[in-house]
Amino acid sequence: MTMEEERAGGGVADRARITSLAVLTLLAACGGGDSGGSAEAPMADAAEPATEDASTVELNIDPALLPEGVTAEMVEEGRELFFGAGICYTCHMMDAKGGTLAPDLTDDVWLNVDGEYLSIVEVIKTGVSQPVEHVGAMLPRAGMPLTDEQVEALAAYSYMLSRM
Ligand code: HEC
Repeated sequence: MTMEEERAGGGVADRARITSLAVLTLLAACGGGDSGGSAEAPMADAAEPATEDASTVELNIDPALLPEGVTAEMVEEGRELFFGAGICYTCHMMDAKGGTLAPDLTDDVWLNVDGEYLSIVEVIKTGVSQPVEHVGAMLPRAGMPLTDEQVEALAAYSYMLSRM
């Protein structure tokens, strides 16, 4: 390759780079305008459903995060009970994010327990007669005839909810 050809080639490459930079800048400018939420462009978030249904989303369980004595099967069973016979969803909601009646179980904020598995088993057994932030109380075992095994499964699911 001669010096001449090399310079010509470099020139083409430079021009291509400048063009793509210009496109990127343009895209960034448009994107910035949208997220600013101007009057003509309603927020994209508004179109999203308010709640997601945690009873059907694929369970993404990292086995490394399971506490001792807890299996993925227990987490699955706990979820079925949470949205079924355990009636937990009636207060903690279908997205398990709570509301006026019960706290969010998907975040890492704990009001009555330290968030470790055994503390969750315990709080489901005892319920919460004096809630920290909510109006109504949670009955022991949510007032349902749940066996210890079912409570442990529910605790396994609650434990994983905040770690998924
Ligand atoms: C009648 C409504 C209601 C039902 C039904 C209910 N809960 Fe609760 N839950 C609450 C309230 C209220 C609290 C305490 C919130 C506070 O202290 O402000 C709570 C707290 C908890 C906590 C401790 C959270 C924390 O941050 O300390 C866990 C875990 C929990 N519930 C799991 C369950 C499970 C599992 C079920 C189903 C077996 C269930 N709950 C059913 C209302 C309910």
